[in-house]
Amino acid sequence: MKFLVTGGAGFIGSHLIEYLVKHKHSVVVVDDLHSGKLENISNSKHQVEFFKLNILEQKKLKEIAKNVDGIFHEASLTSVQESFKKKTEYYNVNVIGTENIFMIAKELGIRVVFASSAAVYGNINKIPITENSERKPQNPYGETKMKAELLAEKYSQLGTQIIGLRYFNVYGPRQNVAYAGVITKFLENVSKHKPPLIHGDGLQVRDFVYVGDVVTANLLAMKSKTKQRFFNIGTGVATSILDLATMIINASGLSIVPIYDAPLVGDVYTSQADISLAKSLLKWKPKTKLENWITTFVRSMNK
Ligand SMILES: NC(=O)c1ccc[n+]([C@@H]2O[C@H](COP(=O)([O-])OP(=O)(O)OC[C@H]3O[C@@H](n4cnc5c(N)ncnc54)[C@H](O)[C@@H]3O)[C@@H](O)[C@H]2O)c1
Repeated sequence: MKFLVTGGAGFIGSHLIEYLVKHKHSVVVVDDLHSGKLENISNSKHQVEFFKLNILEQKKLKEIAKNVDGIFHEASLTSVQESFKKKTEYYNVNVIGTENIFMIAKELGIRVVFASSAAVYGNINKIPITENSERKPQNPYGETKMKAELLAEKYSQLGTQIIGLRYFNVYGPRQNVAYAGVITKFLENVSKHKPPLIHGDGLQVRDFVYVGDVVTANLLAMKSKTKQRFFNIGTGVATSILDLATMIINASGLSIVPIYDAPLVGDVYTSQADISLAKSLLKWKPKTKLENWITTFVRSMNK
Protein backbone atom coordinates (compact mmCIF):
# COMPACT_ATOMS: atom_id res chain seq x y z
CA MET A 1 0.00 0.00 0.00
CA LYS A 2 1.04 3.63 -0.34
CA PHE A 3 0.92 6.10 2.54
CA LEU A 4 1.57 9.79 3.04
CA VAL A 5 3.30 10.63 6.33
CA THR A 6 3.28 14.31 7.31
CA GLY A 7 5.91 15.35 9.83
CA GLY A 8 7.89 12.29 8.73
CA ALA A 9 11.29 13.84 9.49
CA GLY A 10 10.29 14.27 13.12
CA PHE A 11 10.62 11.93 16.06
CA ILE A 12 7.44 9.82 15.81
CA GLY A 13 7.01 10.24 12.03
CA SER A 14 10.49 8.89 11.33
CA HIS A 15 9.82 5.73 13.35
CA LEU A 16 6.54 5.28 11.50
CA ILE A 17 8.36 5.57 8.16
CA GLU A 18 10.95 3.00 9.21
CA TYR A 19 8.18 0.56 10.02
CA LEU A 20 6.27 1.20 6.79
CA VAL A 21 9.38 0.80 4.63
CA LYS A 22 10.38 -2.38 6.47
CA HIS A 23 6.92 -3.79 5.73
CA LYS A 24 7.28 -2.98 2.02
CA HIS A 25 4.81 -0.12 1.80
CA SER A 26 5.43 2.84 -0.51
CA VAL A 27 5.91 6.03 1.48
CA VAL A 28 5.60 9.69 0.60
CA VAL A 29 6.85 12.14 3.21
CA VAL A 30 5.93 15.78 3.70
CA ASP A 31 7.86 17.86 6.21
CA ASP A 32 9.03 21.48 6.20
CA LEU A 33 11.96 20.53 8.50
CA HIS A 34 10.82 23.05 11.11
CA SER A 35 11.99 20.75 13.90
CA GLY A 36 12.47 17.54 11.95
CA LYS A 37 15.76 16.49 10.38
CA LEU A 38 16.55 14.60 7.20
CA GLU A 39 19.07 12.50 9.11
CA ASN A 40 16.12 11.02 11.04
CA ILE A 41 15.07 9.24 7.86
CA SER A 42 18.52 8.69 6.39
CA ASN A 43 18.13 4.89 6.74
CA SER A 44 15.05 4.98 4.53
CA LYS A 45 16.02 7.79 2.16
CA HIS A 46 16.24 5.57 -0.93
CA GLN A 47 12.87 4.00 -0.24
CA VAL A 48 10.76 7.14 0.36
CA GLU A 49 9.74 10.13 -1.71
CA PHE A 50 10.46 13.25 0.35
CA PHE A 51 8.85 16.68 -0.15
CA LYS A 52 10.07 19.65 1.85
CA LEU A 53 6.72 21.35 2.15
CA ASN A 54 4.62 23.26 4.65
CA ILE A 55 1.26 21.58 5.27
CA LEU A 56 -0.32 25.01 4.81
CA GLU A 57 0.41 24.69 1.07
CA GLN A 58 -2.83 22.92 0.32
CA LYS A 59 -2.66 22.74 -3.48
CA LYS A 60 0.77 21.09 -3.59
CA LEU A 61 -0.20 18.84 -0.72
CA LYS A 62 -3.23 17.59 -2.62
CA GLU A 63 -1.11 16.80 -5.68
CA ILE A 64 1.24 14.76 -3.49
CA ALA A 65 -1.63 12.95 -1.75
CA LYS A 66 -3.15 11.71 -5.03
CA ASN A 67 -2.85 7.90 -5.28
CA VAL A 68 -2.09 7.29 -1.62
CA ASP A 69 -4.21 4.81 0.35
CA GLY A 70 -4.07 6.66 3.65
CA ILE A 71 -2.52 9.59 5.51
CA PHE A 72 -0.65 9.46 8.79
CA HIS A 73 -0.67 13.08 9.96
CA GLU A 74 2.11 13.78 12.46
CA ALA A 75 3.20 17.29 11.39
CA SER A 76 2.68 19.85 14.10
CA LEU A 77 4.30 22.50 16.23
CA THR A 78 4.82 20.68 19.48
CA SER A 79 6.20 22.80 22.30
CA VAL A 80 3.78 23.68 25.10
CA GLN A 81 6.03 26.48 26.35
CA GLU A 82 6.56 28.00 22.89
CA SER A 83 2.83 27.87 22.16
CA PHE A 84 2.22 30.65 24.71
CA LYS A 85 4.49 32.98 22.72
CA LYS A 86 3.49 31.90 19.20
CA LYS A 87 -0.25 31.38 19.44
CA THR A 88 -1.01 32.35 15.83
CA GLU A 89 1.72 30.15 14.37
CA TYR A 90 0.50 27.23 16.47
CA TYR A 91 -3.08 27.84 15.37
CA ASN A 92 -2.08 28.05 11.72
CA VAL A 93 -0.04 24.85 11.57
CA ASN A 94 -1.94 22.70 14.06
CA VAL A 95 -5.49 23.74 13.21
CA ILE A 96 -5.53 25.15 9.65
CA GLY A 97 -2.77 22.75 8.53
CA THR A 98 -4.70 19.82 9.98
CA GLU A 99 -7.92 21.00 8.33
CA ASN A 100 -6.02 20.99 5.01
CA ILE A 101 -5.25 17.32 5.56
CA PHE A 102 -8.88 16.53 6.39
CA MET A 103 -10.13 18.50 3.39
CA ILE A 104 -7.78 16.65 1.04
CA ALA A 105 -8.73 13.32 2.56
CA LYS A 106 -12.40 14.15 2.02
CA GLU A 107 -11.85 15.15 -1.60
CA LEU A 108 -9.72 12.10 -2.36
CA GLY A 109 -11.77 9.69 -0.24
CA ILE A 110 -8.86 8.51 1.92
CA ARG A 111 -8.56 7.61 5.57
CA VAL A 112 -6.56 9.67 8.08
CA VAL A 113 -4.89 8.67 11.33
CA PHE A 114 -3.69 11.81 13.06
CA ALA A 115 -1.66 12.70 16.12
CA SER A 116 -3.78 14.31 18.79
CA SER A 117 -2.51 14.59 22.33
CA ALA A 118 -3.33 13.95 25.98
CA ALA A 119 -2.92 17.75 26.21
CA VAL A 120 -6.60 18.00 25.15
CA TYR A 121 -7.59 16.86 28.66
CA GLY A 122 -5.70 19.44 30.72
CA ASN A 123 -5.76 18.87 34.48
CA ILE A 124 -8.14 16.02 35.17
CA ASN A 125 -8.56 14.95 38.77
CA LYS A 126 -10.00 11.55 38.02
CA ILE A 127 -7.33 9.19 36.74
CA PRO A 128 -6.89 7.05 34.74
CA ILE A 129 -8.32 9.31 32.05
CA THR A 130 -10.92 7.82 29.71
CA GLU A 131 -11.65 9.14 26.22
CA ASN A 132 -15.00 10.58 27.26
CA SER A 133 -13.46 12.80 29.95
CA GLU A 134 -14.02 16.50 29.37
CA ARG A 135 -11.55 18.27 27.04
CA LYS A 136 -10.16 21.23 28.99
CA PRO A 137 -6.69 22.07 27.64
CA GLN A 138 -4.40 24.14 29.88
CA ASN A 139 -2.22 25.71 27.19
CA PRO A 140 -2.43 27.00 23.61
CA TYR A 141 -0.81 23.82 22.22
CA GLY A 142 -3.53 21.68 23.84
CA GLU A 143 -6.17 24.09 22.54
CA THR A 144 -4.95 23.62 18.96
CA LYS A 145 -5.10 19.85 19.39
CA MET A 146 -8.68 20.12 20.70
CA LYS A 147 -9.68 22.31 17.76
CA ALA A 148 -8.14 19.76 15.39
CA GLU A 149 -10.28 17.10 17.07
CA LEU A 150 -13.42 19.20 16.60
CA LEU A 151 -12.54 19.43 12.91
CA ALA A 152 -12.02 15.66 12.80
CA GLU A 153 -15.56 15.27 14.15
CA LYS A 154 -16.89 17.71 11.54
CA TYR A 155 -15.17 15.99 8.61
CA SER A 156 -16.21 12.57 9.86
CA GLN A 157 -19.80 13.71 9.75
CA LEU A 158 -19.14 14.62 6.12
CA GLY A 159 -18.08 11.02 5.47
CA THR A 160 -14.30 11.09 5.93
CA GLN A 161 -12.76 8.36 8.09
CA ILE A 162 -10.55 10.00 10.72
CA ILE A 163 -8.97 8.40 13.77
CA GLY A 164 -7.27 10.64 16.34
CA LEU A 165 -4.64 9.13 18.62
CA ARG A 166 -4.23 10.98 21.89
CA TYR A 167 -0.60 10.26 22.62
CA PHE A 168 0.50 10.58 26.22
CA ASN A 169 4.26 11.13 26.83
CA VAL A 170 6.08 9.43 23.98
CA TYR A 171 9.75 8.48 24.45
CA GLY A 172 12.46 6.77 22.46
CA PRO A 173 15.47 7.48 20.26
CA ARG A 174 15.63 10.55 17.98
CA GLN A 175 13.51 12.89 20.10
CA ASN A 176 14.55 16.47 19.37
CA VAL A 177 16.27 17.76 22.54
CA ALA A 178 15.08 21.35 22.03
CA TYR A 179 11.42 20.29 21.98
CA ALA A 180 11.83 17.04 23.83
CA GLY A 181 9.94 15.53 26.65
CA VAL A 182 11.35 15.06 30.10
CA ILE A 183 13.01 11.67 29.49
CA THR A 184 15.22 12.99 26.71
CA LYS A 185 16.10 16.06 28.80
CA PHE A 186 17.04 13.94 31.85
CA LEU A 187 19.07 11.55 29.69
CA GLU A 188 20.86 14.46 28.04
CA ASN A 189 21.87 15.86 31.45
CA VAL A 190 22.95 12.51 32.85
CA SER A 191 25.04 11.79 29.71
CA LYS A 192 27.00 14.93 30.66
CA HIS A 193 27.17 13.77 34.30
CA LYS A 194 24.78 16.59 35.27
CA PRO A 195 21.76 16.08 37.58
CA PRO A 196 18.24 15.95 36.11
CA LEU A 197 16.38 19.25 36.52
CA ILE A 198 12.86 18.80 37.93
CA HIS A 199 10.30 21.57 37.46
CA GLY A 200 7.93 21.66 40.44
CA ASP A 201 7.88 19.14 43.29
CA GLY A 202 8.53 16.09 41.09
CA LEU A 203 5.36 14.38 42.31
CA GLN A 204 3.48 15.17 39.13
CA VAL A 205 2.80 11.95 37.22
CA ARG A 206 3.04 11.06 33.57
CA ASP A 207 2.16 8.08 31.40
CA PHE A 208 5.24 7.30 29.30
CA VAL A 209 4.71 5.28 26.13
CA TYR A 210 7.45 3.95 23.85
CA VAL A 211 7.57 5.25 20.28
CA GLY A 212 7.58 1.71 18.82
CA ASP A 213 4.27 1.05 20.56
CA VAL A 214 2.91 4.34 19.19
CA VAL A 215 3.85 3.22 15.67
CA THR A 216 1.93 -0.04 16.15
CA ALA A 217 -1.10 1.93 17.35
CA ASN A 218 -0.98 4.01 14.16
CA LEU A 219 -0.88 0.95 11.94
CA LEU A 220 -3.73 -0.76 13.78
CA ALA A 221 -5.77 2.46 13.65
CA MET A 222 -5.23 2.68 9.88
CA LYS A 223 -6.35 -0.95 9.41
CA SER A 224 -9.27 -0.76 11.82
CA LYS A 225 -12.90 -0.80 10.69
CA THR A 226 -13.72 1.99 13.16
CA LYS A 227 -14.69 5.07 11.16
CA GLN A 228 -14.21 7.82 13.71
CA ARG A 229 -12.85 7.71 17.25
CA PHE A 230 -10.25 9.21 19.51
CA PHE A 231 -8.06 6.70 21.34
CA ASN A 232 -5.79 7.17 24.33
CA ILE A 233 -2.31 5.93 23.49
CA GLY A 234 -0.43 5.52 26.75
CA THR A 235 0.37 2.53 28.96
CA GLY A 236 -2.00 2.99 31.88
CA VAL A 237 1.05 3.19 34.17
CA ALA A 238 1.68 6.43 36.07
CA THR A 239 5.29 7.40 36.88
CA SER A 240 6.21 10.45 38.93
CA ILE A 241 8.89 12.74 37.56
CA LEU A 242 10.93 12.14 40.71
CA ASP A 243 10.73 8.35 40.20
CA LEU A 244 11.76 8.84 36.59
CA ALA A 245 14.80 10.91 37.62
CA THR A 246 15.74 8.27 40.22
CA MET A 247 15.38 5.49 37.63
CA ILE A 248 17.73 7.29 35.23
CA ILE A 249 20.27 8.17 37.94
CA ASN A 250 20.27 4.57 39.22
CA ALA A 251 20.78 3.22 35.71
CA SER A 252 23.70 5.60 35.21
CA GLY A 253 25.43 4.60 38.45
CA LEU A 254 26.35 8.27 39.07
CA SER A 255 26.33 9.79 42.57
CA ILE A 256 24.03 12.68 41.78
CA VAL A 257 20.64 13.88 43.03
CA PRO A 258 17.99 15.79 41.08
CA ILE A 259 17.84 19.57 41.32
CA TYR A 260 14.59 21.55 41.41
CA ASP A 261 13.20 24.64 39.71
CA ALA A 262 9.82 26.43 39.53
CA PRO A 263 6.94 24.52 37.90
CA LEU A 264 6.43 25.14 34.19
CA VAL A 265 3.47 27.31 33.20
CA GLY A 266 0.68 25.27 31.60
CA ASP A 267 2.11 21.95 32.79
CA VAL A 268 -0.48 19.41 33.92
CA TYR A 269 -0.12 17.65 37.26
CA THR A 270 -1.59 14.22 36.64
CA SER A 271 -1.66 12.33 33.38
CA GLN A 272 -2.43 8.64 33.19
CA ALA A 273 -4.33 6.96 30.39
CA ASP A 274 -7.09 4.44 30.53
CA ILE A 275 -6.26 2.41 27.43
CA SER A 276 -9.17 -0.05 27.49
CA LEU A 277 -10.71 1.39 24.33
CA ALA A 278 -7.58 0.96 22.20
CA LYS A 279 -7.13 -2.52 23.65
CA SER A 280 -10.65 -3.61 22.79
CA LEU A 281 -11.27 -1.85 19.46
CA LEU A 282 -7.77 -1.70 17.96
CA LYS A 283 -6.44 -4.85 19.67
CA TRP A 284 -3.46 -2.70 20.64
CA LYS A 285 -1.29 -3.27 23.68
CA PRO A 286 1.94 -1.43 24.55
CA LYS A 287 4.85 -3.84 24.94
CA THR A 288 7.85 -1.81 26.14
CA LYS A 289 8.43 -1.24 29.86
CA LEU A 290 9.91 2.15 30.76
CA GLU A 291 12.45 0.89 33.30
CA ASN A 292 13.76 -1.81 30.93
CA TRP A 293 14.17 0.68 28.11
CA ILE A 294 15.97 3.19 30.34
CA THR A 295 18.38 0.56 31.66
CA THR A 296 19.25 -0.62 28.15
CA PHE A 297 19.51 2.91 26.77
CA VAL A 298 21.74 4.22 29.56
CA ARG A 299 24.02 1.17 29.22
CA SER A 300 24.39 1.81 25.47
CA MET A 301 25.06 5.51 26.20
CA ASN A 302 27.92 4.56 28.52
CA LYS A 303 29.65 2.32 25.95
N1 LIG B 1 6.24 13.35 21.44
C1 LIG B 1 5.21 13.33 22.26
O1 LIG B 1 5.34 12.99 23.44
C2 LIG B 1 3.84 13.70 21.76
C3 LIG B 1 2.77 13.66 22.68
C4 LIG B 1 1.51 14.00 22.24
C5 LIG B 1 1.29 14.34 20.92
N2 LIG B 1 2.34 14.38 20.03
C6 LIG B 1 2.07 14.74 18.65
O2 LIG B 1 2.69 13.78 17.81
C7 LIG B 1 3.08 14.38 16.57
C8 LIG B 1 4.54 14.11 16.31
O3 LIG B 1 5.30 14.66 17.38
P1 LIG B 1 6.87 14.47 17.53
O4 LIG B 1 7.14 14.28 18.96
O5 LIG B 1 7.34 13.50 16.55
O6 LIG B 1 7.35 15.95 17.17
P2 LIG B 1 8.48 16.45 16.14
O7 LIG B 1 8.63 17.90 16.37
O8 LIG B 1 9.68 15.58 16.24
O9 LIG B 1 7.78 16.18 14.75
C9 LIG B 1 6.89 17.08 14.13
C10 LIG B 1 7.31 17.21 12.68
O10 LIG B 1 6.41 18.11 12.02
C11 LIG B 1 7.17 18.94 11.16
N3 LIG B 1 6.42 20.17 10.93
C12 LIG B 1 6.16 21.16 11.81
N4 LIG B 1 5.44 22.13 11.23
C13 LIG B 1 5.24 21.73 9.94
C14 LIG B 1 4.56 22.31 8.83
N5 LIG B 1 3.94 23.49 8.92
N6 LIG B 1 4.56 21.63 7.65
C15 LIG B 1 5.20 20.44 7.53
N7 LIG B 1 5.85 19.84 8.55
C16 LIG B 1 5.86 20.49 9.74
C17 LIG B 1 8.48 19.18 11.90
O11 LIG B 1 9.54 19.61 11.06
C18 LIG B 1 8.72 17.80 12.51
O12 LIG B 1 9.49 16.99 11.64
C19 LIG B 1 2.75 15.86 16.72
O13 LIG B 1 1.48 16.09 16.14
C20 LIG B 1 2.66 16.06 18.22
O14 LIG B 1 1.84 17.14 18.57
C21 LIG B 1 3.61 14.08 20.44
